[in-house]
Amino acid sequence: MKRMGILTAGGDTPALNATIQGAVKRASDLNVEIYGFIKGFSSLLNPRLPHVRLNPLMREIPEIDATIGGTMLGASRDYLSSEDDKQIEEICDRLRKLKIDGLICVGGDGTLNGLQPLAERLPVVLAPKTIDNDLGLNYPNEPDDWSKDEDGNYRQDRLHQGFNCEHMINYATPGYATAVFDSAMGIERVRTTAESHRRVAIIEVMGRHSGYIALGSAYGRPDIILIPEVKVQIEPLIERIMQLYELQKNVVIVCGEGIKDEAGNELGAEMQTTDPAGNIVLSGAAEALRHKLIERMGDSYFVSRRRGESANAAIFTRKVGHTQRGGRPVLFDRFYASQLGGKAVDMLLEGQNNAVSVLQWREDRGFHVDSFEGNRLRDRWGMIHARHVHPSFYDAASMKPSKVGIDYLLPIFTTAIGHDDVEHIRRTLFTSGNLMLPYHSVNTDINKRIRYLSNAE
Ligand code: F6P
Repeated sequence: MKRMGILTAGGDTPALNATIQGAVKRASDLNVEIYGFIKGFSSLLNPRLPHVRLNPLMREIPEIDATIGGTMLGASRDYLSSEDDKQIEEICDRLRKLKIDGLICVGGDGTLNGLQPLAERLPVVLAPKTIDNDLGLNYPNEPDDWSKDEDGNYRQDRLHQGFNCEHMINYATPGYATAVFDSAMGIERVRTTAESHRRVAIIEVMGRHSGYIALGSAYGRPDIILIPEVKVQIEPLIERIMQLYELQKNVVIVCGEGIKDEAGNELGAEMQTTDPAGNIVLSGAAEALRHKLIERMGDSYFVSRRRGESANAAIFTRKVGHTQRGGRPVLFDRFYASQLGGKAVDMLLEGQNNAVSVLQWREDRGFHVDSFEGNRLRDRWGMIHARHVHPSFYDAASMKPSKVGIDYLLPIFTTAIGHDDVEHIRRTLFTSGNLMLPYHSVNTDINKRIRYLSNAE
Protein backbone atom coordinates (compact mmCIF):
# COMPACT_ATOMS: atom_id res chain seq x y z
CA MET A 1 0.00 0.00 0.00
CA LYS A 2 1.58 3.26 -1.16
CA ARG A 3 -1.11 5.81 -0.46
CA MET A 4 -3.98 5.88 2.02
CA GLY A 5 -6.67 8.37 2.93
CA ILE A 6 -8.02 9.61 6.24
CA LEU A 7 -11.22 11.48 7.10
CA THR A 8 -12.95 12.63 10.28
CA ALA A 9 -16.72 12.06 10.34
CA GLY A 10 -19.58 12.89 12.69
CA GLY A 11 -19.44 15.38 15.54
CA ASP A 12 -15.94 16.63 16.34
CA THR A 13 -14.01 15.79 19.51
CA PRO A 14 -10.97 17.46 21.01
CA ALA A 15 -8.66 14.55 20.10
CA LEU A 16 -9.13 14.28 16.33
CA ASN A 17 -5.93 16.10 15.40
CA ALA A 18 -4.05 13.76 17.72
CA THR A 19 -5.47 10.76 15.84
CA ILE A 20 -4.53 12.36 12.53
CA GLN A 21 -1.03 13.02 13.81
CA GLY A 22 -0.60 9.44 15.03
CA ALA A 23 -1.69 8.11 11.64
CA VAL A 24 0.50 10.51 9.66
CA LYS A 25 3.55 9.82 11.77
CA ARG A 26 3.16 6.06 11.45
CA ALA A 27 2.49 6.27 7.69
CA SER A 28 5.56 8.48 7.18
CA ASP A 29 7.73 6.07 9.19
CA LEU A 30 6.55 3.30 6.88
CA ASN A 31 7.00 5.36 3.71
CA VAL A 32 3.29 5.54 2.92
CA GLU A 33 1.63 8.68 1.60
CA ILE A 34 -1.48 9.82 3.43
CA TYR A 35 -4.14 12.17 2.09
CA GLY A 36 -6.72 13.89 4.29
CA PHE A 37 -10.25 14.25 2.94
CA ILE A 38 -12.08 17.47 3.74
CA LYS A 39 -15.21 17.46 5.92
CA GLY A 40 -15.65 13.72 6.39
CA PHE A 41 -17.72 11.74 3.91
CA SER A 42 -18.81 15.00 2.32
CA SER A 43 -15.45 15.03 0.48
CA LEU A 44 -16.06 11.57 -1.00
CA LEU A 45 -19.52 12.63 -2.16
CA ASN A 46 -18.00 15.61 -3.98
CA PRO A 47 -16.94 14.72 -7.56
CA ARG A 48 -13.87 16.97 -7.09
CA LEU A 49 -12.79 14.97 -4.01
CA PRO A 50 -11.21 17.85 -2.02
CA HIS A 51 -8.13 16.60 -0.18
CA VAL A 52 -4.87 17.63 1.42
CA ARG A 53 -1.50 15.86 1.24
CA LEU A 54 -0.65 15.35 4.89
CA ASN A 55 2.95 14.08 4.50
CA PRO A 56 4.52 15.31 1.26
CA LEU A 57 8.07 13.94 1.06
CA MET A 58 7.19 11.89 4.17
CA ARG A 59 7.16 15.00 6.37
CA GLU A 60 4.00 15.90 8.24
CA ILE A 61 2.63 19.31 7.33
CA PRO A 62 2.93 21.91 10.13
CA GLU A 63 -0.82 22.41 10.51
CA ILE A 64 -1.05 19.00 12.22
CA ASP A 65 -1.05 19.77 15.94
CA ALA A 66 -2.23 17.17 18.45
CA THR A 67 -2.76 19.77 21.17
CA ILE A 68 -5.43 21.64 19.24
CA GLY A 69 -9.05 20.49 19.52
CA GLY A 70 -11.44 19.95 16.62
CA THR A 71 -10.20 18.61 13.31
CA MET A 72 -7.95 20.39 10.84
CA LEU A 73 -9.67 18.36 8.10
CA GLY A 74 -13.17 19.49 9.03
CA ALA A 75 -16.04 17.14 9.87
CA SER A 76 -19.64 16.69 8.82
CA ARG A 77 -22.55 14.45 9.54
CA ASP A 78 -22.84 13.39 5.90
CA TYR A 79 -22.92 9.61 5.52
CA LEU A 80 -22.99 7.22 2.58
CA SER A 81 -26.10 5.30 1.70
CA SER A 82 -25.72 1.53 1.70
CA GLU A 83 -28.71 1.37 -0.69
CA ASP A 84 -27.07 3.52 -3.34
CA ASP A 85 -24.67 1.26 -5.28
CA LYS A 86 -24.11 3.90 -7.94
CA GLN A 87 -22.93 6.42 -5.36
CA ILE A 88 -20.52 3.92 -3.81
CA GLU A 89 -19.16 2.91 -7.25
CA GLU A 90 -18.56 6.55 -8.14
CA ILE A 91 -16.73 7.16 -4.87
CA CYS A 92 -14.52 4.09 -5.37
CA ASP A 93 -13.79 5.21 -8.89
CA ARG A 94 -12.65 8.64 -7.64
CA LEU A 95 -10.51 7.07 -4.93
CA ARG A 96 -8.93 4.77 -7.52
CA LYS A 97 -8.12 7.77 -9.73
CA LEU A 98 -6.38 9.37 -6.77
CA LYS A 99 -4.53 6.05 -6.20
CA ILE A 100 -5.92 5.64 -2.71
CA ASP A 101 -5.43 2.00 -1.68
CA GLY A 102 -7.05 2.15 1.75
CA LEU A 103 -9.03 4.51 3.97
CA ILE A 104 -9.05 5.38 7.67
CA CYS A 105 -12.31 6.84 8.94
CA VAL A 106 -12.08 8.48 12.32
CA GLY A 107 -15.52 8.31 13.85
CA GLY A 108 -18.05 6.72 16.16
CA ASP A 109 -20.90 4.23 15.77
CA GLY A 110 -22.56 6.32 13.02
CA THR A 111 -19.34 6.31 11.00
CA LEU A 112 -18.83 2.59 11.46
CA ASN A 113 -22.39 1.96 10.28
CA GLY A 114 -21.70 4.32 7.35
CA LEU A 115 -18.42 2.88 6.12
CA GLN A 116 -19.74 -0.66 5.66
CA PRO A 117 -20.72 -0.26 1.96
CA LEU A 118 -17.26 1.14 1.14
CA ALA A 119 -15.51 -1.70 2.94
CA GLU A 120 -16.98 -4.14 0.43
CA ARG A 121 -14.90 -2.49 -2.32
CA LEU A 122 -11.86 -0.94 -0.62
CA PRO A 123 -9.96 -1.68 2.62
CA VAL A 124 -11.41 0.63 5.26
CA VAL A 125 -10.69 0.74 8.99
CA LEU A 126 -12.04 2.89 11.78
CA ALA A 127 -10.05 4.79 14.38
CA PRO A 128 -12.53 5.54 17.17
CA LYS A 129 -13.52 8.90 18.56
CA THR A 130 -16.54 10.20 20.43
CA ILE A 131 -16.97 12.21 23.59
CA ASP A 132 -20.02 10.01 24.31
CA ASN A 133 -17.75 6.98 24.93
CA ASP A 134 -20.44 4.82 23.36
CA LEU A 135 -18.43 3.06 20.65
CA GLY A 136 -17.48 -0.31 22.08
CA LEU A 137 -18.86 -3.21 24.06
CA ASN A 138 -19.26 -3.88 27.76
CA TYR A 139 -18.36 -7.51 27.05
CA PRO A 140 -17.39 -9.24 23.79
CA ASN A 141 -20.72 -10.93 23.00
CA GLU A 142 -22.92 -7.98 23.93
CA PRO A 143 -24.31 -7.60 20.35
CA ASP A 144 -25.95 -11.04 20.73
CA ASP A 145 -28.10 -9.64 23.55
CA TRP A 146 -30.06 -7.36 21.20
CA SER A 147 -33.48 -8.45 19.98
CA LYS A 148 -35.82 -6.74 17.54
CA ASP A 149 -39.62 -6.76 17.57
CA GLU A 150 -42.00 -6.80 14.58
CA ASP A 151 -42.07 -2.99 14.46
CA GLY A 152 -38.27 -2.90 14.19
CA ASN A 153 -37.70 -1.66 17.74
CA TYR A 154 -34.53 -2.92 19.38
CA ARG A 155 -34.28 -4.13 22.97
CA GLN A 156 -31.28 -5.24 24.96
CA ASP A 157 -31.87 -8.36 27.08
CA ARG A 158 -28.83 -8.81 29.24
CA LEU A 159 -28.21 -12.54 28.95
CA HIS A 160 -24.66 -12.11 30.16
CA GLN A 161 -24.06 -12.42 33.88
CA GLY A 162 -21.19 -10.79 35.72
CA PHE A 163 -18.98 -7.98 34.60
CA ASN A 164 -15.26 -7.47 34.26
CA CYS A 165 -13.70 -4.18 33.10
CA GLU A 166 -10.87 -6.15 31.49
CA HIS A 167 -13.36 -7.71 29.06
CA MET A 168 -14.64 -4.38 27.76
CA ILE A 169 -13.98 -3.72 24.09
CA ASN A 170 -12.70 -0.18 23.60
CA TYR A 171 -12.49 0.85 27.24
CA ALA A 172 -12.58 4.57 26.47
CA THR A 173 -12.82 6.59 23.28
CA PRO A 174 -10.66 9.63 22.46
CA GLY A 175 -12.55 12.77 23.42
CA TYR A 176 -14.30 11.29 26.43
CA ALA A 177 -11.66 12.27 29.00
CA THR A 178 -11.58 15.87 27.81
CA ALA A 179 -15.38 16.11 27.80
CA VAL A 180 -15.46 14.84 31.39
CA PHE A 181 -12.63 17.23 32.34
CA ASP A 182 -14.63 20.15 31.01
CA SER A 183 -17.93 19.01 32.57
CA ALA A 184 -16.36 18.36 35.98
CA MET A 185 -14.76 21.82 35.95
CA GLY A 186 -18.12 23.39 35.00
CA ILE A 187 -19.85 21.56 37.85
CA GLU A 188 -17.29 22.77 40.37
CA ARG A 189 -17.83 26.33 39.20
CA VAL A 190 -21.62 26.15 39.32
CA ARG A 191 -21.43 24.66 42.81
CA THR A 192 -20.08 27.79 44.48
CA THR A 193 -22.75 30.01 42.99
CA ALA A 194 -25.49 27.50 43.95
CA GLU A 195 -24.00 27.48 47.45
CA SER A 196 -23.89 31.26 47.74
CA HIS A 197 -27.44 31.80 46.50
CA ARG A 198 -29.01 28.71 48.12
CA ARG A 199 -30.05 27.28 44.78
CA VAL A 200 -30.68 23.95 43.13
CA ALA A 201 -28.59 23.65 39.96
CA ILE A 202 -29.35 21.16 37.21
CA ILE A 203 -26.42 20.77 34.84
CA GLU A 204 -26.96 18.96 31.57
CA VAL A 205 -24.13 17.13 29.87
CA MET A 206 -23.99 15.50 26.43
CA GLY A 207 -23.79 11.83 25.59
CA ARG A 208 -27.05 11.13 23.77
CA HIS A 209 -28.43 7.86 25.17
CA SER A 210 -25.27 6.89 27.03
CA GLY A 211 -24.53 8.23 30.49
CA TYR A 212 -20.72 8.00 30.46
CA ILE A 213 -20.11 11.76 30.52
CA ALA A 214 -22.64 12.18 33.33
CA LEU A 215 -21.01 9.30 35.23
CA GLY A 216 -17.50 10.75 34.84
CA SER A 217 -18.81 14.16 35.92
CA ALA A 218 -18.80 12.67 39.41
CA TYR A 219 -15.28 14.11 39.58
CA GLY A 220 -16.91 17.57 39.87
CA ARG A 221 -18.68 16.25 43.01
CA PRO A 222 -22.32 16.88 42.14
CA ASP A 223 -24.81 15.60 44.73
CA ILE A 224 -26.93 13.65 42.28
CA ILE A 225 -26.18 12.11 38.89
CA LEU A 226 -28.95 11.04 36.53
CA ILE A 227 -28.05 8.86 33.55
CA PRO A 228 -30.19 7.96 30.52
CA GLU A 229 -29.89 4.24 31.23
CA VAL A 230 -31.87 4.49 34.49
CA LYS A 231 -35.35 6.04 34.46
CA VAL A 232 -35.75 9.06 36.73
CA GLN A 233 -37.99 8.20 39.69
CA ILE A 234 -39.36 11.60 40.58
CA GLU A 235 -40.51 10.95 44.17
CA PRO A 236 -37.22 9.49 45.47
CA LEU A 237 -35.41 12.24 43.57
CA ILE A 238 -37.42 14.98 45.28
CA GLU A 239 -36.94 13.32 48.64
CA ARG A 240 -33.16 13.27 48.10
CA ILE A 241 -33.11 16.91 46.93
CA MET A 242 -34.98 17.97 50.07
CA GLN A 243 -32.67 15.98 52.36
CA LEU A 244 -29.65 17.63 50.78
CA TYR A 245 -31.22 21.07 50.76
CA GLU A 246 -32.03 20.83 54.46
CA LEU A 247 -28.42 19.91 55.15
CA GLN A 248 -26.46 22.25 52.89
CA LYS A 249 -28.94 24.72 51.36
CA ASN A 250 -27.90 23.95 47.83
CA VAL A 251 -28.04 20.94 45.54
CA VAL A 252 -26.14 20.22 42.34
CA ILE A 253 -27.67 17.69 39.97
CA VAL A 254 -26.01 16.45 36.79
CA CYS A 255 -28.17 14.92 34.10
CA GLY A 256 -27.29 13.27 30.80
CA GLU A 257 -29.17 14.84 27.88
CA GLY A 258 -30.99 11.55 27.18
CA ILE A 259 -32.55 10.94 30.62
CA LYS A 260 -35.99 9.32 30.68
CA ASP A 261 -39.01 9.64 32.94
CA GLU A 262 -40.73 6.75 34.75
CA ALA A 263 -42.67 5.85 31.60
CA GLY A 264 -39.48 5.67 29.53
CA ASN A 265 -40.09 8.93 27.63
CA GLU A 266 -37.10 11.14 27.02
CA LEU A 267 -37.41 14.27 29.11
CA GLY A 268 -35.54 16.42 26.62
CA ALA A 269 -37.31 15.11 23.56
CA GLU A 270 -40.16 17.61 23.59
CA MET A 271 -38.61 19.52 20.70
CA GLN A 272 -37.08 16.46 19.13
CA THR A 273 -35.58 16.47 15.62
CA THR A 274 -33.12 14.15 13.88
CA ASP A 275 -29.69 14.84 12.40
CA PRO A 276 -28.55 13.50 8.97
CA ALA A 277 -27.26 10.30 10.60
CA GLY A 278 -30.78 9.67 11.91
CA ASN A 279 -29.76 10.42 15.51
CA ILE A 280 -32.35 12.14 17.66
CA VAL A 281 -31.22 15.67 18.52
CA LEU A 282 -32.12 16.22 22.14
CA SER A 283 -32.90 19.61 23.55
CA GLY A 284 -33.61 20.49 27.09
CA ALA A 285 -33.54 17.53 29.50
CA ALA A 286 -32.42 19.83 32.31
CA GLU A 287 -35.17 22.35 31.55
CA ALA A 288 -37.79 19.58 31.41
CA LEU A 289 -36.58 18.23 34.75
CA ARG A 290 -36.61 21.72 36.24
CA HIS A 291 -40.27 22.14 35.23
CA LYS A 292 -41.14 18.82 36.82
CA LEU A 293 -39.42 19.81 40.07
CA ILE A 294 -41.09 23.23 40.13
CA GLU A 295 -44.47 21.59 39.56
CA ARG A 296 -43.99 18.87 42.18
CA MET A 297 -42.08 20.76 44.87
CA GLY A 298 -44.09 23.94 44.50
CA ASP A 299 -43.24 27.41 45.78
CA SER A 300 -44.17 26.77 49.39
CA TYR A 301 -41.07 24.67 50.09
CA PHE A 302 -38.62 27.27 48.81
CA VAL A 303 -40.63 30.26 50.10
CA SER A 304 -40.34 28.91 53.62
CA ARG A 305 -36.60 28.32 53.31
CA ARG A 306 -35.49 31.18 51.08
CA ARG A 307 -37.33 34.17 52.52
CA GLY A 308 -40.01 34.36 49.90
CA GLU A 309 -38.20 33.16 46.78
CA SER A 310 -40.18 30.92 44.45
CA ALA A 311 -39.24 27.47 43.14
CA ASN A 312 -38.81 29.18 39.80
CA ALA A 313 -36.08 31.42 41.20
CA ALA A 314 -34.45 28.68 43.26
CA ILE A 315 -33.97 26.02 40.57
CA PHE A 316 -31.81 26.87 37.61
CA THR A 317 -30.28 24.96 34.71
CA ARG A 318 -27.08 25.14 32.70
CA LYS A 319 -25.90 23.09 29.74
CA VAL A 320 -22.19 22.42 29.58
CA GLY A 321 -22.87 22.40 25.84
CA HIS A 322 -20.30 22.38 23.08
CA THR A 323 -17.44 23.50 25.34
CA GLN A 324 -17.23 19.83 26.40
CA ARG A 325 -16.54 18.90 22.78
CA GLY A 326 -13.95 21.53 22.00
CA GLY A 327 -10.62 22.96 23.04
CA ARG A 328 -7.29 21.43 23.92
CA PRO A 329 -7.44 17.66 24.55
CA VAL A 330 -6.09 16.47 27.89
CA LEU A 331 -3.03 14.21 27.92
CA PHE A 332 -4.99 10.94 28.10
CA ASP A 333 -6.91 11.78 24.94
CA ARG A 334 -3.90 13.06 23.02
CA PHE A 335 -1.74 10.10 23.85
CA TYR A 336 -4.19 7.31 23.12
CA ALA A 337 -5.86 9.04 20.15
CA SER A 338 -2.47 9.22 18.51
CA GLN A 339 -1.75 5.54 19.24
CA LEU A 340 -5.13 4.53 17.84
CA GLY A 341 -4.41 6.53 14.67
CA GLY A 342 -1.05 4.79 14.28
CA LYS A 343 -2.66 1.42 14.89
CA ALA A 344 -5.20 2.09 12.13
CA VAL A 345 -2.32 2.57 9.66
CA ASP A 346 -0.76 -0.73 10.75
CA MET A 347 -4.11 -2.46 10.35
CA LEU A 348 -4.47 -1.31 6.75
CA LEU A 349 -0.93 -2.40 5.98
CA GLU A 350 -1.59 -5.80 7.55
CA GLY A 351 -4.49 -6.21 5.13
CA GLN A 352 -7.29 -5.74 7.66
CA ASN A 353 -10.61 -4.40 6.44
CA ASN A 354 -13.83 -3.33 8.19
CA ALA A 355 -11.98 -3.39 11.50
CA VAL A 356 -11.57 -0.95 14.37
CA SER A 357 -8.51 0.06 16.36
CA VAL A 358 -9.48 -0.24 20.02
CA LEU A 359 -8.12 0.81 23.40
CA GLN A 360 -8.02 -2.09 25.83
CA TRP A 361 -7.22 -2.14 29.53
CA ARG A 362 -5.87 -4.84 31.81
CA GLU A 363 -4.86 -4.40 35.41
CA ASP A 364 -1.42 -5.95 34.88
CA ARG A 365 -0.78 -4.18 31.57
CA GLY A 366 -2.60 -0.87 31.72
CA PHE A 367 -3.89 0.59 28.45
CA HIS A 368 -2.81 -0.84 25.12
CA VAL A 369 -4.14 -0.67 21.57
CA ASP A 370 -5.47 -3.61 19.62
CA SER A 371 -7.76 -4.27 16.67
CA PHE A 372 -11.28 -5.66 16.62
CA GLU A 373 -13.42 -6.85 13.72
CA GLY A 374 -16.14 -4.34 12.84
CA ASN A 375 -18.67 -7.13 12.40
CA ARG A 376 -18.22 -8.25 15.98
CA LEU A 377 -19.66 -4.90 17.05
CA ARG A 378 -22.78 -5.57 14.98
CA ASP A 379 -25.90 -7.38 16.12
CA ARG A 380 -27.35 -10.17 14.01
CA TRP A 381 -29.16 -7.59 11.83
CA GLY A 382 -25.92 -5.73 11.14
CA MET A 383 -26.69 -2.82 13.45
CA ILE A 384 -24.13 -1.17 15.71
CA HIS A 385 -25.71 0.00 18.95
CA ALA A 386 -24.39 2.80 21.10
CA ARG A 387 -22.73 1.29 24.20
CA HIS A 388 -24.70 2.06 27.32
CA VAL A 389 -23.35 2.50 30.82
CA HIS A 390 -23.33 -1.00 32.28
CA PRO A 391 -25.92 -1.35 35.09
CA SER A 392 -23.18 -2.30 37.55
CA PHE A 393 -21.55 1.15 37.11
CA TYR A 394 -24.40 3.08 38.70
CA ASP A 395 -26.03 2.98 42.11
CA ALA A 396 -29.65 3.97 41.50
CA ALA A 397 -30.35 4.42 45.23
CA SER A 398 -27.61 6.97 45.89
CA MET A 399 -27.82 8.31 42.30
CA LYS A 400 -24.03 8.16 42.01
CA PRO A 401 -21.41 5.86 40.42
CA SER A 402 -21.22 2.48 42.16
CA LYS A 403 -18.00 0.88 43.37
CA VAL A 404 -17.64 -0.87 39.97
CA GLY A 405 -18.30 2.45 38.22
CA ILE A 406 -15.58 4.12 40.27
CA ASP A 407 -13.19 1.26 39.48
CA TYR A 408 -13.97 1.82 35.81
CA LEU A 409 -13.24 5.57 35.96
CA LEU A 410 -9.99 5.44 37.94
CA PRO A 411 -7.61 4.09 35.26
CA ILE A 412 -8.76 6.73 32.79
CA PHE A 413 -8.72 9.79 34.97
CA THR A 414 -6.09 9.37 37.67
CA THR A 415 -3.35 10.61 35.35
CA ALA A 416 -5.50 12.05 32.55
CA ILE A 417 -4.22 15.61 32.93
CA GLY A 418 -0.61 16.27 32.00
CA HIS A 419 1.62 18.92 33.61
CA ASP A 420 1.71 20.66 30.24
CA ASP A 421 -2.10 20.91 30.21
CA VAL A 422 -1.97 23.02 33.33
CA GLU A 423 1.10 24.94 32.25
CA HIS A 424 -0.54 25.68 28.91
CA ILE A 425 -3.35 27.59 30.64
CA ARG A 426 -0.86 29.55 32.73
CA ARG A 427 1.26 30.45 29.74
CA THR A 428 -1.30 31.20 27.09
CA LEU A 429 -4.62 32.44 28.40
CA PHE A 430 -3.76 35.90 29.66
CA THR A 431 -0.99 36.82 27.26
CA SER A 432 -1.32 40.33 25.87
CA GLY A 433 -1.18 38.94 22.34
CA ASN A 434 -4.64 37.46 22.85
CA LEU A 435 -6.00 40.97 23.19
CA MET A 436 -4.19 42.38 20.22
CA LEU A 437 -3.92 39.67 17.58
CA PRO A 438 -6.96 38.22 15.82
CA TYR A 439 -7.61 34.50 16.01
CA HIS A 440 -5.87 32.65 13.22
CA SER A 441 -7.95 29.70 12.07
CA VAL A 442 -6.28 26.54 10.83
CA ASN A 443 -8.94 26.50 8.10
CA THR A 444 -7.21 29.46 6.46
CA ASP A 445 -3.97 27.52 6.13
CA ILE A 446 -5.60 24.26 5.12
CA ASN A 447 -7.57 26.02 2.37
CA LYS A 448 -4.28 26.85 0.69
CA ARG A 449 -3.35 23.18 0.62
CA ILE A 450 -6.60 21.75 -0.72
CA ARG A 451 -6.23 19.92 -4.02
CA TYR A 452 -8.92 18.44 -6.24
CA LEU A 453 -9.13 15.30 -8.30
CA SER A 454 -8.63 17.21 -11.54
CA ASN A 455 -5.26 18.65 -10.51
CA ALA A 456 -4.06 15.80 -8.32
CA GLU A 457 -0.78 14.17 -9.11
O1 F6P B 1 -22.26 12.48 19.56
C1 F6P B 1 -21.59 13.57 20.03
C2 F6P B 1 -22.53 14.66 20.48
O2 F6P B 1 -21.74 15.69 21.01
C3 F6P B 1 -23.63 14.24 21.44
O3 F6P B 1 -23.18 14.08 22.75
C4 F6P B 1 -24.63 15.35 21.22
O4 F6P B 1 -25.94 14.93 21.48
C5 F6P B 1 -24.50 15.66 19.77
O5 F6P B 1 -23.22 15.19 19.37
C6 F6P B 1 -24.65 17.11 19.43
O6 F6P B 1 -24.52 17.24 18.06
P1 F6P B 1 -24.46 18.65 17.31
O7 F6P B 1 -23.19 19.32 17.66
O8 F6P B 1 -24.53 18.30 15.87
O9 F6P B 1 -25.63 19.42 17.80
